Amino acid sequence: MCLTIPAQVVEIKKNKAVIKQSNGNQQIDISLIPSVRIGNWILYTGDFAVKKIDSKEASEIMELLRSHQSVDTTKLRPRFKTILQAVSKRDLTKKEIEYLLRTKDQIHLQALYSEADTIRKSYIRDHICIHGIIEFSNYCVNNCLYCGLRRENIKNKYYRMTPQEIIKVADQAVNLLGYKMLVLQSGDDYWYDDKKLVEIVEGIKKRCRVFIYLSVGDRAFETYKKLKQAGADGVLYRFETSNSKLYAKLHPQKTLKDRLDHLKFMKKLGYVISSGSIVGLPGQTISDLANDILLMKKLKVFMPSMGPFIPADNTPFAKKSHGGFGMSLKMIAVTRLLLKKSRIPITTALETIGPKDARKQAFKAGANSIMFNLTPAKYRKNYKIYKNKFYDEKRKIEKWGLFKGEASYKMLEKELKVKI
Ligand code: 5AD
Repeated sequence: MCLTIPAQVVEIKKNKAVIKQSNGNQQIDISLIPSVRIGNWILYTGDFAVKKIDSKEASEIMELLRSHQSVDTTKLRPRFKTILQAVSKRDLTKKEIEYLLRTKDQIHLQALYSEADTIRKSYIRDHICIHGIIEFSNYCVNNCLYCGLRRENIKNKYYRMTPQEIIKVADQAVNLLGYKMLVLQSGDDYWYDDKKLVEIVEGIKKRCRVFIYLSVGDRAFETYKKLKQAGADGVLYRFETSNSKLYAKLHPQKTLKDRLDHLKFMKKLGYVISSGSIVGLPGQTISDLANDILLMKKLKVFMPSMGPFIPADNTPFAKKSHGGFGMSLKMIAVTRLLLKKSRIPITTALETIGPKDARKQAFKAGANSIMFNLTPAKYRKNYKIYKNKFYDEKRKIEKWGLFKGEASYKMLEKELKVKI
């Protein structure tokens, strides 16, 4: 679902409410909440009013979405200014991306985030997507050096949810809470064969008006074809790093070429693509990170997904330091400069290592989506891709963002067709 936006009603015209926006008045359909009166605060999305709220709640949401204060551009270095000015005219070069990723001082960081925020606002307005993720199995046949689910980590408590359990969690998330986008994630666990995966996707689609992203790893073209036919809409499938040598080191017996071939055929099959990399992997350089952004651009990724590396217990990288909140934020901002219309999620990993207001900072640096964990508590604690995984108990945004109803589904349907 998408985050709804608060506004105060200044006039009522039959089944429309007029609201004041910075760029003039806008008319909003209020047929879902006919009791709205002048002076009331409403939440709206697209052209639809969704619910009434009080003014205190409205100001809390507006605070989250408020833009940066203006930046004194006279203090910026000429090269930095030239690069930011180029953003609206052409794509940045690799050298320019690296230059931005090296930004350290506060004034320049503010300028970078502010530019990303402005671009986000002008290309996709306050369209903030909310996804729910169900981590349905932590078994994995792979042995990736960084990942806590790696095959050789025998200390994990392993679990698998049955197809019926997964369908039930999805059903509740969609039909009780209002989720409209679900991610089904697991390790590369072939216990779930084509038949089981199709059963899960079809079972959910039969009960729910929802978009399904699959995150089930390396599988054959035919499998993904069947799953698309069963109703899956997107894939969450990171290339992890664009450096083929580093890729080979981190993923025993795997190649980057194979990973990219998968992305190619997924695209051909019509999946909405979410892909990207891990930021701050041991052995990764700024040049690699710039190439990651350029690769996302080349692939025209709809949802660029980047999160910091975080060490996981019982892995070869258990003692390494994490990838850094600052660098992850810069990756989000620079990606926004190149993939202007894309949907950039705030990853759980970013919230795990970031400060308390990490989410707010990321929204103001160009991100526009958020992922809430729907995995049942008894399983969730064992899905340890890295340590101390963040879990949002309160989910204030859920309250503002989710509404049941066909209008919200239709709106998303349109959104997902946007060409990047
Ligand atoms: N730190 C950060 N991200 C990780 N992932 C796996 N292990 C880690 C880690 N230690 C990410 C990978 C994978 C996604 C599901 O989780 O990018 O694609």
